[in-house]
Order: sequence, then C-alpha cells, then structure tokens
Amino acid sequence: MNDITLDQSAQEFEQLLNRAVKLIINTYSNLEDNKVFQKKSPQEIAACFDQTLPELPENTNALWEQVERDIVGNATFSAGPHFYSYVLSPGNQAGLAGEMISSFLNQNASKWHLGPAASEIEKVVLRWIAQFIGYEHYQTGLLVSGGSMANLTCLTVARNQKASVSLNHQGLYGQDPMMIYLTDQAHYCVDKAVGILGLGRNQIRRIVTDGDYRMRMDVLEETIKGDLKQGLRPFCVVGSAGTVNSGAIDPLKEIALICQKYDLWFHVDAAYGGPAAGLEELQHQFEGMEQADSLALDPHKWLYVPIEAGCSLFKHPQAQRNTFSMVPEYLKVDRSVDTSRTDFMEYGAQLTRSSRSLKVWMTFKAYGAQRLRENIRHDIHKTQYLESLVRDNPDFEVLTPAVLSIVCFRLNPREANLNPAELEDLNTRLIHGLEAHGGVFVTGTLVHGKTALRVCIINHRTQMRHVDHLWSIVSQVAQGLLLET
Ligand SMILES: Cc1ncc(COP(=O)(O)O)c(C=O)c1O
Repeated sequence: MNDITLDQSAQEFEQLLNRAVKLIINTYSNLEDNKVFQKKSPQEIAACFDQTLPELPENTNALWEQVERDIVGNATFSAGPHFYSYVLSPGNQAGLAGEMISSFLNQNASKWHLGPAASEIEKVVLRWIAQFIGYEHYQTGLLVSGGSMANLTCLTVARNQKASVSLNHQGLYGQDPMMIYLTDQAHYCVDKAVGILGLGRNQIRRIVTDGDYRMRMDVLEETIKGDLKQGLRPFCVVGSAGTVNSGAIDPLKEIALICQKYDLWFHVDAAYGGPAAGLEELQHQFEGMEQADSLALDPHKWLYVPIEAGCSLFKHPQAQRNTFSMVPEYLKVDRSVDTSRTDFMEYGAQLTRSSRSLKVWMTFKAYGAQRLRENIRHDIHKTQYLESLVRDNPDFEVLTPAVLSIVCFRLNPREANLNPAELEDLNTRLIHGLEAHGGVFVTGTLVHGKTALRVCIINHRTQMRHVDHLWSIVSQVAQGLLLET
C-alpha cells in the first residue's frame, strides 16, 4: 500500500502559513476603518456557505478568496477599537501568536505527560492570575472556556462539598433542597449552572439589590434564616465582582462574614471585573474577595487574552479534585514514581483539553502585569470620559455611572417632556439606529426598568479619540431621531 497523508510539501505548507499571516496583517492594518458590523441578514450570510460536502480538494486560490471575502469580510470586528458591547475584549497580539503555537503543538492538557510544559504553565498562569487580583488563599484551579464554564465548575464543587452525602455516588436523590443566594444582577450563566447541577432554579433565592445594584445584606440574612426555619439547606452565596449590566461589586466582605456564620460556600463571579482588583486604587472595593471559597475569572475579558480563556480558582487544596477526579484503568499513572505531577483531567469535566495556558502565559510575559494594569486603568478612564460627555449633554441622562468600565445612559430630551412609553420607544429606536449605522458596536440593556445604551470598554485598542468618535455617532443618530419626533 502507498503511504498517504494529509500533509502538503514543506513549500506548500509555508505558502499556506504565509497566506494566513498576510491575511491577519492586512486585516489588522484596517481595523480602525473596518465597519464593525456588516449588517447582513442570516440568509445573506448563509448563502455564502450554502455548498455541498466537498468530495475533492478545492482550488487553493478559490478557497482563500472565500476565506477573505465570506469569512473575514463578514466578521464582526470586536478586535477593532469601535467595539463596545457585551463584555468582549479585542484579544492581543502575543496571545494570538500563543494560540497559533498551541494549535500547532496540539497538546492535550489532560494528563501531565501529554503536555508537560502545557500542564506546568497552566499551574503558573493560574497562580499569576490569583496573584494579580490578590486572591491570596489560592490553592488549585483550572482553565476553562469562559465565565459560564468557570462558574459551573466552581458551583459543582460548591454543591458537592456542601451536600450531606457524596453526590458523586448517591446523587441528589433524598437531599433536602439545597438553596443558593444571588442577586437580581448576577449573570444568567449562574442560573443556568444551577439548572445543570440538578438543583432546579426554584432553589435560587434572588436577593434584591440597593440603589447601586449591590446585594442587600439584611435581605440576604433574613432569607437564609427563613430557609433554615423551613428545613431547607442553604449552601452557597454568589457575590458579583463586577456585574454584567453595570459593573456593580457586591459587598464581598459582608458576604464572606455571612458565609462564615452560616457555614455556606462563598463563590465570587469575577469573570468580568476581577482584574480591576489588581489596581491599588480599587482594591478596597473588592475587599472580601480573597475570602472566597471559589472564584470565576475570564482572562478573555479584562486580561485581553483571545477567546476562549476562563478560569476557576479554589481556596481548598482538595475540594476540586475530590469533585472531579475519576481515573479509569487506561488513564492510570503510578503516583509513587512522581507525586508532584498534576493531571488536569482530574480537576474538571473534560478529558481532552486544548492548552489554553500558552496564550495567557504569553500575554503576561510579553506585556507584564504592570502594563496590563495600566490598560485596565485606561479603560476605566475612557469610560469615565464618556460618562462626562453624556452628562454634559442635556438631551441625555446617565442611568448607571462608570463603577468599572461600563456606563449606561439614555436619550431623554428634557424639553420634549416625553412620557415613559415614549422614552422607551425613542431609546429602542436609538439602539436600532446605531446597529444600522454599523460604525460602532453598542447594544442596549434594561436598568431600573428603563431601556438604556450600555457601553463597556475593555479594549486596549480604543483610545480617547475613538470615544469622541463613538459619542459623535451616538449624538448624530440621536439628533436624527429627535428631528423625526
Ligand atoms: C459577570 C459575568 N459572569 C459570567 C459571564 C459569562 O462569561 P462567558 O461569556 O465567557 O461564558 C459574563 C459574560 O459577560 C459576565 O459578565
């Protein structure tokens, strides 16, 4: 039989890589001018790819033309400076290079010997992240795909640690309802995790927030007491270190005390805001976070690492492994030979795992913690600057100030004296108008029951002049709407 492979010749391979690199460089050089959102319908995009399964190789030139035209050409340019939506960073160049090398090395960071360097640098970056944010009790952790998986991983450990029986063996059958406490501002992925964990969303106690969207501690304690009286089993409080809507930080120190008092697991969702705890001037706002039993944080958000990169961190040396470790015969190792090895397959749900650590490691090494902090600080200043522009314009109103790097505001021309329904309609049209413009990417949300524009800046490529540009587009679209009314 003839030897066969999918590999091309060395020369063809080089051409392939050069073509990819050239495409990246060209796209990068246009990031500033690219339209962020291409505003095409799903049908239009689907039509670009409506092809049958290719039985034979496509012509290389035709293939690359399609990549350039249909894939890059239809991308949403969150990598550029004009992206202000959700909680999405633009990535960074060193991280991108790290991702390329990871893809080439194809390390499986499940068992130590399948990725020795990958496993060791995963341990290192987890420690660095904990150090960056001052999570001094850190013991073990895991890199995962993002905040949703990080919260799920942490809450799985919380549930198993706080159950009265071994859930891995007996399951939830016969358990008293396990109750979890979070605010109405917590990220919806926590609700989803609770459902996945088989607890049922009815076991979520939604603690109301104060005027600044922070957990009401009096309500938390009363609710826990009430549940205990009813024979329910409170097991976990989830504090937010930067909510997705407004960046609010719960009173983490007080939550830690309540958790101690009632023997509850203290989990912090720091997926977005966590890295801001690395800034000396903000540390006091995060006080108490260091007490958390577990913590979720996304390097792919405010550490600017290309997606996907989330992480779960734990304070207890054994809890994570006790929850996830299961080693079938064919994966066993002789630990008496080497007691120091870490097999990450024992610390989470996945067996085969890509090595996410390299892009995080490259990010820390190439820029250094200090430069990352400076960029985080700059993001906050840019957001505060935008807030000042909004405040200076009497047709607009700030709904939530820039606690971290999110500001929510709405169009509210005082002279027009619009009623609440008219204001809702006006701001919904403003959001649609900005989407149709496509020059900047801004989305809306609901705060205090009011439709608002929500701007989140975790983008080291956005500069002050881009914020001015954003504001001129918002003002221009708003002006158009006001002339219509
Ligand atoms: C506070 C918070 N938690 C969790 C998540 C979910 O993270 P991911 O989208 O990476 O799953 C987000 C996403 O924006 C978030 O802001």
